[in-house]
Parts: sequence; C-alpha cells; structure tokens
Amino acid sequence: MTWQADEPYNDLPHLPPQSEIETRTVLKLAIEARAALASLEQAAQGMPNAAVLINSIGLLEAQASSEIENIVTTTDELFKYAQAESAATDPATREALRYRTALYEGFRSVQVRPLSVSTAVEVCTLIKQRDMGIRRLAGTYIGNPATHQAIYTPPTGESTIRDKLTNWQDFIHGDDDLDPLVTMAVAHYQFEAIHPFEDGNGRTGRVLNVLLLVSAGLLSQPILYLSKYIIENKSSYYRLLQGVTEDQDWQSWTLFMLEGIRQTSVSTVHKIRAIKELQQHLHEVLRDTMSGGVNADFLAVLFEQPYCRIASVMSRCSVSRPTATSWLNGLVEVGVLLKVPVGRERLYVNTAFMDLLTRDEGVAAAEAPTLF
Ligand SMILES: Nc1ncnc2c1ncn2[C@@H]1O[C@H](COP(=O)(O)OP(=O)(O)OP(=O)(O)O)[C@@H](O)[C@H]1O
Ligand SMILES: [Mg+2]
Repeated sequence: MTWQADEPYNDLPHLPPQSEIETRTVLKLAIEARAALASLEQAAQGMPNAAVLINSIGLLEAQASSEIENIVTTTDELFKYAQAESAATDPATREALRYRTALYEGFRSVQVRPLSVSTAVEVCTLIKQRDMGIRRLAGTYIGNPATHQAIYTPPTGESTIRDKLTNWQDFIHGDDDLDPLVTMAVAHYQFEAIHPFEDGNGRTGRVLNVLLLVSAGLLSQPILYLSKYIIENKSSYYRLLQGVTEDQDWQSWTLFMLEGIRQTSVSTVHKIRAIKELQQHLHEVLRDTMSGGVNADFLAVLFEQPYCRIASVMSRCSVSRPTATSWLNGLVEVGVLLKVPVGRERLYVNTAFMDLLTRDEGVAAAEAPTLF
C-alpha cells in the first residue's frame, strides 16, 4: 500500500475493505446500536407531532456538526432565527441554519430517489451556498494550515475522484449483506478519504450518515444527532479516520461509529421521554389557566420551536393578535415562558423545553469502546 501524508492518495483502495469488517466485537456492538436505534425510531413514532423532533434535533445536529469546523453559534441564536434564517446577522448562525436546511433537503431527496453522488453534491451546495462540483484542482489537503504540514492528502484528478465516488455509491447500495450501520461507518471513512469537494466534506459526510440510515429504512425522520458525539470525541474521530488510512484499522473506526449511534440513540430517547412529560405538564398548566379550555394547537406550537412568535400562534390557532398575545403573556405570568426581544420583535421562549434540549443526558459508554 502506497501512502504518504503529503502525496495525493490516488491508490485509496475501492470498497469493500479487503479485511474482515464484521468481527465478533463489531457485530456485538452493532447489535446493541441497532437495538438503541430501533428504540429511538419507536419513541419518535410515538410523538403525536413529528415536527417537534425534526425541528429541534435538526438544529442541534446542525450546531454540533458546524462546530466541528469551528463555526460556533449558540443554541439560543440558532433557535431564535430558526424560522427567519435571513434575519440572523451572525454568519456562523446562518451557516449552521444552512446545514439544517441541507439535512432537510437531503432527507426529502432520499424519499424520492436513491442516495447517490448527486445527493452529496446537492447537500454540499446547500451547506456552502455555492455550486460545489467535484474538485478539479490539486492542492486540497488535511493538515495544519499555519505550517502547511499535511496529515492526509486526498486523491486528485476529477476522473479518479469520480471513479472512487461511483464505487462508494455502489457500495452503499451493494448486496454484501453488511449491517447498514457498519455500511454507514465504512462509507463515511471512504467519503472523507475521497474528500470530493474543496470544502464542506466533513459536514456533507455527516449529513449523508443520517440519510444512509433513512435510506436503509432504520429511521423515518432525520433525527439522529450523531455530530454531538463526534464533536465530543473529535480527536478520536480524526485519529481513527487516519488509522484506517495508515493501518487499515477498520475495526477501531467502525466500533467508534457504532458506539456513537448507540449513545446518541439512547440519549435522544431520554430527551423524547422528557419532552413528552413536559408536554403533559404544560397541558395541565393550560387547563388550569386558559378560560376556554386547552387549545391543542397552542400547546403544539409551543413545542415546534422553543422560541415562539406571536405570528405563529395567530396562524396555527387562527386567532387574532390580541388573543395570541394574551395567551403567551399568560404563560409568562406563570413562569412557563420568558419574553425576549429579538430585533424589533418579541419572542417567547419555552425555557424548560430549551433546557432539556440542550442538557447532557450522561449516557454511559459501552464496554467495547475501550478498544478504540
Ligand atoms: N486524517 C483524515 N483522513 C480523512 N478524513 C479526515 C481526516 N481528518 C479529518 N477528516 C475529515 O475531513 C473533514 C474536514 O474536511 P472539510 O474542511 O472539507 O469539511 P468541513 O465540513 O468544511 O469541515 P469540518 O468537517 O471540520 O466541519 C473532517 O470533519 C473529517 O470528516
Ligand atoms: Mg472546512
């Protein structure tokens, strides 16, 4: 195997990997991760309003994935501008919101046509907000931009890159009988090693991870918040990607990704449970405070975004501005909502919802990951 940090890796081997991928250890963790993911899918199916999870988890995923690239925005900023992307003044917030849009569009796309190289181009174009074709020029490398020291140099030459991408696409849809979670891990390494674009490869690859699970029928909504685990384990993420290149250490890399799916699924199930309890609690508060009985649409809108606009209540509940305002202010008085000025508007934050979305669920690691 010819590999050098500062030489384009045009010999990057095609998939599938030559060595045995589904070792006993990998299969054991794959089973646990599959079970955790199935519980997540089931918990999500049990939510009466799917928008609650898609909106909030989509934004958290966007924030974490963008942060890996050092695009740092706060959850508050993101949620404030979730429905008004162009109003966000901070470029990092706009970029993270675009990631969210790319995730949704990618999700829509895989409903109607198979996941492909074109899906990757579409996703990257949405993230970067400019046409992202396959790299034509040499010069892209992963390393230290200050010292120009390369850690990894991806293949060059448009036809070489396209050839490897075609192989990547065939592998995703292949009939090699691998567990789809293992396929996802292997495909993610390969996509990053091909590094088809000048920029945005990490984020595009992380959107593709979720889309692959959706395509495999394991998730019916794009609600796997995997990038939080990746950012929390960023140095392992980089080290283990590199371990595949240098030592063909597929096992450590695959275990790392499987553990990510397992942990993320478990923690999201905890969040879903907590959201349901909070919805129940707010239902009781509304029953006690609203004169005309609980308005189900009003309760729903309070969870569609943690930052609620008067206009959203007006349109969702078909009520006048004074009515919407008095309902919201009523919840401010009992301490459920907090009124915050945003630009010329006043938004109402569902603080308990916001807290539970952003808190750490503290999921313990599985045993196997001591191997990576
Ligand atoms: N040694 C490596 N070998 C292969 N891929 C790597 C390696 N180190 C990092 N990567 C991948 O490259 C990505 C960075 O590439 P790029 O800057 O094009 O993507 P990005 O989306 O702009 O950035 P980021 O992924 O940091 O958010 C990393 O996120 C990771 O997925
Ligand atoms: Mg980058």
